[in-house]
Amino acid sequence: MKTELIIALDFSENSDAVNMVKRISDAGRFYKVGLELFISCGGRLIPTLKDMGKKVFLDLKLHDIPNTVRGALLASLKYGADIVNVHIQGGREMLKLCSDTCKEYAIKSGFSPKIIGVTLLTSLSEDYLREYGISAASPKEYVIKLAKFAKDAGLDGVVSSAQESREIKEACGGSFIIISPGIRFNDGSLDDQQRASAPQFAARNGVDYIVVGRPITHSHDPAWETERFYSALRQTV
Ligand code: C5P
Repeated sequence: MKTELIIALDFSENSDAVNMVKRISDAGRFYKVGLELFISCGGRLIPTLKDMGKKVFLDLKLHDIPNTVRGALLASLKYGADIVNVHIQGGREMLKLCSDTCKEYAIKSGFSPKIIGVTLLTSLSEDYLREYGISAASPKEYVIKLAKFAKDAGLDGVVSSAQESREIKEACGGSFIIISPGIRFNDGSLDDQQRASAPQFAARNGVDYIVVGRPITHSHDPAWETERFYSALRQTV
């Protein structure tokens, strides 16, 4: 199986997040700490997760002027996350500075976190492009353009919908990492995701990591749901 599952811990309490990881137990290998948890509890959950043998994606989606993002990125790296991210719409200079910062950090620390760029949030659709005056013909065209900016700046990959993954791999190369949220089984609720895809579709289209939150963490049996996602990913090998 090539595609890995990242479980989004969208909680405001450290204890709720730790309890969820304990409930999922050995079924879960990789977790996402996002803004809500990081702002509520600081970074202390990340070393806890690492001590439990889990991998961590710190999803802060940094977006500011280059120097400010560089400072925030450096401050966040000390928690030991395996993956960090920034918004590609922050500009090419910011992206290059972040990529260089991660490389320098890896040389100094001996630990190489992956730095990923956020393209277009999966909660946004074509209407957003029109409303914001973006001239790209479709979300896909816009996302591919952003992915190329990220690649040129030296980032390791992008966050994007699974619906764009095949074209991104073609444009940026097979080793360019794709992380896709907005993943739902066809029988599930969409919540606020507009461009959702099934896990099997993501795996077939070369996505490296799927991110799943509420379908697992709001279910009656999160460990069983986690196994169900892994089983769907395995079927598509
Ligand atoms: O609960 P659900 O599966 O919709 O969670 C999706 C997770 O992925 C959330 O934590 C959200 O912040 C994140 N995400 C997203 N779209 C992006 C980037 C991240 O939904 N483009």
